[in-house]
Amino acid sequence: MHESFINLTLLLKLAKFKCIYINSEISLTVLSPLKVCIKQDVPHLHYSLCPPEHGGSDAPPGFGDLQVVSPEDVCLAVDAALLAGYRHFDTAACYQNEAELGRALKKLLPKHGLTREDVFITSKLDPKDQGEKAMEGALQSLSQLDLGYIDLYLIHWPGTQGMDEADQLNPVNRAQSWVTLEELHAQGKLKAIGVSNYTPAHLEELMQSCKTHPAVIQVEFHPQFCQTELRSVCEKYGVCFEAYSSLGKGVLVTDPVVMEIAKNCERTPAQVLLRWAVQQGVPVLPKSSNPDRVKDNARIFDFTLSDSDVDRLSALDCGHKYCWDASQVV
Ligand SMILES: NC(=O)c1ccc[n+]([C@@H]2O[C@H](COP(=O)([O-])OP(=O)(O)OC[C@H]3O[C@@H](n4cnc5c(N)ncnc54)[C@H](OP(=O)(O)O)[C@@H]3O)[C@@H](O)[C@H]2O)c1
Repeated sequence: MHESFINLTLLLKLAKFKCIYINSEISLTVLSPLKVCIKQDVPHLHYSLCPPEHGGSDAPPGFGDLQVVSPEDVCLAVDAALLAGYRHFDTAACYQNEAELGRALKKLLPKHGLTREDVFITSKLDPKDQGEKAMEGALQSLSQLDLGYIDLYLIHWPGTQGMDEADQLNPVNRAQSWVTLEELHAQGKLKAIGVSNYTPAHLEELMQSCKTHPAVIQVEFHPQFCQTELRSVCEKYGVCFEAYSSLGKGVLVTDPVVMEIAKNCERTPAQVLLRWAVQQGVPVLPKSSNPDRVKDNARIFDFTLSDSDVDRLSALDCGHKYCWDASQVV
């Protein structure tokens, strides 16, 4: 069976699902409905998540992060998430909870009447394994999760942990990591592959050298950091642009413009920030350890921001980042 078809089947299944993202701080993540398409000129699956007016089909809620690594806590969070309908789990090697997530799923899927094929797992290569250790790192992720395959695997960071940002080995190492991911993708162990925290230059570099195009790029995105250039590179190549830190790590919920728009449309500031992203076709991964906020953050598909509100929010763009910055990584 053609690999694109296999991936499409998987992602079409995912389109029906509510989604959970789990990482170092376990997150329940708000994701907009999934739209799936294959571009004829891109030999891999391309997908994007978008609200109904952008062709999405459903309104899955998401989950925020909890600082959960212990097996018991991961199990509790996964159980609650599965019960609530979440089906998409995001972890990473450096979050050190891949094994706990895999064990929790194996234990809990039957309880919820689900199988491996019913869930979608994202994980990421540890920045310390960039380069020649990439195969070992990715195989370690596969073995830790122990779920047969990983639906989406990302290079977590364009640099190599412990290496100077200006070190010319950084591009060599990430290129080697990508070749490794391509190999595991060809073997069907990684159903789709992508990158995280890449700048436009890193992504352009990858597009020039890769055999398999990245399906997804996961990066910081919110009204103060609109990533206009990166989004147009993604559009050019058909790479799904996925946002993290959509709430500016919680800081942006008190921004006066966000608060005023929220008051006018009788929504919470967090919903306004998340809606701003998904209304532009960008999936979001808000993090909350508060159950009420988890529910609140999911209610973003039953209202629309006016064009002028979207523009007012976008005008807050000042290039401010709340998370790590890869712009100096050569
Ligand atoms: N690939 C990467 O390198 C990378 C890097 C960073 C993040 N991420 C992903 O992106 C996800 C989210 O990003 P983030 O953790 O940086 O931050 P974020 O989602 O922008 O903000 C999280 C903060 O906002 C607060 N919050 C959540 N919902 C709220 C609401 N409705 N009202 C008020 N405050 C609210 C949370 O506090 P409470 O918990 O108290 O609600 C938390 O302090 C992470 O879970 C992670 O999966 C990926």
